[in-house]
Amino acid sequence: MSQKKVIAVVGATGAQGGGLVRAIATDRDGPFIARAITRKPESEKSRALAELGVEVVAGDADDPPSLDRAFAGAYGAFCVTNFWEHFSAEREGAQATAMARASRKAGVQHVIWSTLEDTRKWVPLDDGRLPTLQGKYKVPHFDSKGSVDRVFAEEAAPTTYLLAAFYWENFIYFGMGPRKGPDGDLVLSLPLGGVKLPGIAAGDIGKCAYGLFRRGTGTVGQRFGIAGEVLSGPEMAAKMGRALGRKVSFSDVPFDVYRGLGFPGAEDLGNMFQFQAILGDEFLRSRDPERSRSLNPNLLTFDAWLAANAGRMPIG
Ligand SMILES: NC(=O)c1ccc[n+]([C@@H]2O[C@H](COP(=O)([O-])OP(=O)(O)OC[C@H]3O[C@@H](n4cnc5c(N)ncnc54)[C@H](OP(=O)(O)O)[C@@H]3O)[C@@H](O)[C@H]2O)c1
Repeated sequence: MSQKKVIAVVGATGAQGGGLVRAIATDRDGPFIARAITRKPESEKSRALAELGVEVVAGDADDPPSLDRAFAGAYGAFCVTNFWEHFSAEREGAQATAMARASRKAGVQHVIWSTLEDTRKWVPLDDGRLPTLQGKYKVPHFDSKGSVDRVFAEEAAPTTYLLAAFYWENFIYFGMGPRKGPDGDLVLSLPLGGVKLPGIAAGDIGKCAYGLFRRGTGTVGQRFGIAGEVLSGPEMAAKMGRALGRKVSFSDVPFDVYRGLGFPGAEDLGNMFQFQAILGDEFLRSRDPERSRSLNPNLLTFDAWLAANAGRMPIG
């Protein structure tokens, strides 16, 4: 019988949890085995995990008793929510709360909660710099996660807090990649307000989480913001240009213009970018590539990410 400790991974079929499951499975002599939690154990992604030898179990964050079952007997738990599936801060909060409570019920010894800042601590609701959204949020997909930190502190098993940076995969999947301008040249358009953007390869998030589990419970109560590199808009555009072999320029879109683009989540993301600009250096310090590299020595730089992924960016 295996003496390895089980880490129950929510979001195992997704970017963050998937990176963690693969990091655990790759380290064959390591102390852990992964248990992948999914709503769809028969899906193609779940089957691919099973083929890696990973235990795949059913669990739905909207169904707390199913999480209790999925976490049972685990040493560790990785908890992540997916705001972008439903756009509801309330539902995201309820899902994360269910994960926190399930971890304590199961007697888990170490939880990693993938959270983000509750931006209202810096920009209160009556601060007009950011429009208030959904009646009580500034950046709903940040605030909902950050507001559950208290629940993890009070009602979960011992918890380490992980704060991810902007995924560079957003340039592939989230419609944020460079597009052809009127003259045919490519333009990377983001609302950065002149500040730098901490970014990360999505697959590195789970590897950093793995580094935290490897460190043991000494990190409990601490916050780890992670990033692969911190770059300005023009720096990202220049690197994209070199990787694509054509000119890419940068356009710093005004926050109000971005908020008004009309796609689902545009206001939330516009506020997110403006929040990062308001915090300035404080936000950059919150996501430190060197500290991230100490958790994951193979952390990708943007150039390394581009070498593997530039060709996957849909050029509109
Ligand atoms: N994009 C960025 O730049 C960025 C940066 C920082 C943080 N984030 C945050 O990252 C989060 C998303 O994480 P991700 O990128 O890893 O997600 P993802 O790749 O889109 O995958 C979503 C994962 O969540 C699982 N899931 C969704 N609803 C569930 C439920 N009710 N019960 C159990 N599992 C559920 C899915 O599992 P099944 O479908 O298999 O059940 C899937 O594994 C978002 O909340 C976002 O705010 C994103």
